[in-house]
Amino acid sequence: MFRIEPKKSEVVSFIVNGQLKEVILKGPNQTLAEVLRIKLDMTGTKESCQCGECGACTVLVEGEPVLSCSTLAIAVRGKRITTIEGLAEGGVLHPIQQAFIDSGASQCGFCTPGMILMAKVLLDENPEPTEDQIKEHLGGNLCRCTGYVKIIEAVQLAAKTMKSVGA
Ligand code: FES
Ligand code: FES
Repeated sequence: MFRIEPKKSEVVSFIVNGQLKEVILKGPNQTLAEVLRIKLDMTGTKESCQCGECGACTVLVEGEPVLSCSTLAIAVRGKRITTIEGLAEGGVLHPIQQAFIDSGASQCGFCTPGMILMAKVLLDENPEPTEDQIKEHLGGNLCRCTGYVKIIEAVQLAAKTMKSVGA
């Protein structure tokens, strides 16, 4: 259990995509999604349902996926956070990002950051997932546009690319 002190405002820090970030929290109730999007202007993280149902707001905390709409920022102070902005390196998209483009797996794009971060967790753990494993792993991430087929194809393409480049 996290212990949350009800201070009025507090400076807290996080390591976001490898960089130390400090923000002032006004009370303990601000979510991680609010801090990322509003305080840090990192709008790659999307909010849709805002109640833990759709997966759009997924980010990684210490490498594990969390729903940032349902996570208090103060509960993850000091932690390493990875958002979609942290995947590209040196201006080159991560193979999963590129695969989503190449497969036409992003339409409105609202679900895409969460899907890509979840796919990264999967492929880091299991470089050659089956279609069923991909479906199961992404089962908590909803998409209203694609019908999911192209998203699954994108993850399969990313797996191939990452294997070929040893990523
Ligand atoms: S916006 Fe967080 S789960 Fe939907
Ligand atoms: S691309 Fe629009 S919700 Fe998935």
